[in-house]
Amino acid sequence: MIVITTPTGDIGHQLVENLVAAEEPVRVIARDPSRLPARIRAQVDVVEGSHSDAEVVDRAFDGADSVFWLVPPDFRTPSVSARYLEFTRPACEAVTSHGVGRVVAVSALGRGSGLEANAGLVTASLAMEDLICATGVSYRGLTMPGFMDNMLRQVDGIKATGSFSSTLAGDLKAPTCATRDIAAVAARMLLDHSWTGQQSTPVLGPEDLSCNQMAEIMSDVLGRAVRYQQQPIDGLRTDMLARGASEAMANAVVEMMVAKDHGLDNAEPRTPESTTPTSFRQWCAQVLKPAVLG
Ligand SMILES: NC(=O)c1ccc[n+]([C@@H]2O[C@H](COP(=O)([O-])OP(=O)(O)OC[C@H]3O[C@@H](n4cnc5c(N)ncnc54)[C@H](OP(=O)(O)O)[C@@H]3O)[C@@H](O)[C@H]2O)c1
Repeated sequence: MIVITTPTGDIGHQLVENLVAAEEPVRVIARDPSRLPARIRAQVDVVEGSHSDAEVVDRAFDGADSVFWLVPPDFRTPSVSARYLEFTRPACEAVTSHGVGRVVAVSALGRGSGLEANAGLVTASLAMEDLICATGVSYRGLTMPGFMDNMLRQVDGIKATGSFSSTLAGDLKAPTCATRDIAAVAARMLLDHSWTGQQSTPVLGPEDLSCNQMAEIMSDVLGRAVRYQQQPIDGLRTDMLARGASEAMANAVVEMMVAKDHGLDNAEPRTPESTTPTSFRQWCAQVLKPAVLG
């Protein structure tokens, strides 16, 4: 039995599709099972509730060989590190009490970069990994750069002003990956019941690109000029607070973006194993273009 958290999320829903297609027994934990497609509900075991709840994970992990673990972002959290750790602690207890064999978790690039101690959200993700690993379970941490899919949050701006923004230097090249590839890597790890030990599994996409290069690709694919606008870091903080983020969340994102500008995502060497197939151009044609034109 494979247990999946966040089956309605970006990564989670694609992962569930992959596992169901492989005809593997799957149990999902969902706060609101009616948000799952009826076709999926009919093919999986559903435990209703939040995976931060000790009683819920205790029920869900009973008889589980493997668990896919993802801590959902909380825009209003008063403490980012406490959020990741408190959310994960009950699951660690259930992993131990039920003798779960393997955990595959969503984490982030940065370990070994020298920047990870002050990288906000990434620092919190890495502390979460340490907590899971301390149980002794066999573990693979999916370590990612920024997702291509984050660009969907800028569709309105692309339509209205022909621009997108970030705080990164326009010519800083970095990896980026598609959530469909993260789901495919997670599915591969979860369907393999033979691995042991504790390691990172980086998911780096096929190439490093700068924001200026992304703007060129988007212009080409969308058939209209798209420009990259570098936002001052203080502007990001002010914008997040204005949109209702807690001080802690705004500070954690600012710290992470500063660390990324200093090379947080550039320390992991690209290998054939960490190179995933979906290019930014392909993602723009298949996902961004319909969203911008729709
Ligand atoms: N975006 C990036 O560039 C990036 C890079 C590296 C790592 N990450 C990590 O990737 C993760 C985000 O993955 P994603 O994009 O797939 O997530 P997502 O699409 O935002 O999905 C969030 C999921 O969490 C569920 N959820 C929300 N609050 C919950 C709660 N309190 N209790 C239980 N379930 C809850 C939601 O389900 P319902 O609302 O249906 O209940 C939904 O299934 C984060 O851990 C982030 O740190 C992101």
